Amino acid sequence: MARKRIIAGNWKMNKTPEEAKALCADLKDLVVNDNVDVVYCVPAIDITTVAEAVKGTNVHVGAQNFYIEDKGAFTGEISAPMLKEAGVEYIIIGHSERRDIFGENDVLINAKVKKAFASGLKPILCCGESLALRKAGTYKEWIERQIKWDLTDVTADQVKNLVIAYEPIWAIGTGETASADQAQEVCKLIRDLIAKLYDADTAEAVRIQYGGSMNAGNAAELLAKDDIDGGLIGGASLKTDFAQIVNA
Ligand code: 13P
Repeated sequence: MARKRIIAGNWKMNKTPEEAKALCADLKDLVVNDNVDVVYCVPAIDITTVAEAVKGTNVHVGAQNFYIEDKGAFTGEISAPMLKEAGVEYIIIGHSERRDIFGENDVLINAKVKKAFASGLKPILCCGESLALRKAGTYKEWIERQIKWDLTDVTADQVKNLVIAYEPIWAIGTGETASADQAQEVCKLIRDLIAKLYDADTAEAVRIQYGGSMNAGNAAELLAKDDIDGGLIGGASLKTDFAQIVNA
């Protein structure tokens, strides 16, 4: 079974609505590619503008965060039904910046994955190790532990529609990319784990991205690897270089 490539931009806390509209216009003709799912994961304030700008194109809208309740007294939060109504399809969950800066743990991340599926949003579940764990050589156990926790009580049918992003923290925003072999090693490890936790069909279907200083220059080599089905791109998603990654 051929997995469709998925190239997602994580805009993080960048672009005002006006700037978002301009970036969508700059990218519009450049990201047309029927063989790739293209996703812009944008700040909540930009969702309506971006959904309007990409209407009728092959670009899907994603969000970067939400809370697990539908509504209520949760000051500052945004819910899955709100995102859905605004046109969001994909949701990033468990990004290392949410884990490290905002204290999200695997219990909450697991609850978010389940809530996203229950609400009809497609999760992009992030995992990845710190430099210390990479140097200590314990990164494989770490990644396996994260995935097991985060997928507790998630069904095989759901995992078939899941995107997992392997983002080594030491490669995020540092300009230091994992080598294609290093990225492939962990993406394969994740696929093998999914086969063990679920079954071979589910492992074959789940899409696994690499993220961490992916750019127009290194994308083709990374994406050529068997178990790397796409990319989650930060810095390079904010400029037209993103289109080169889509077409790499
Ligand atoms: P950079 O591409 O800026 O390294 O960011 C990667 C990332 O964190 C995407 O979620």
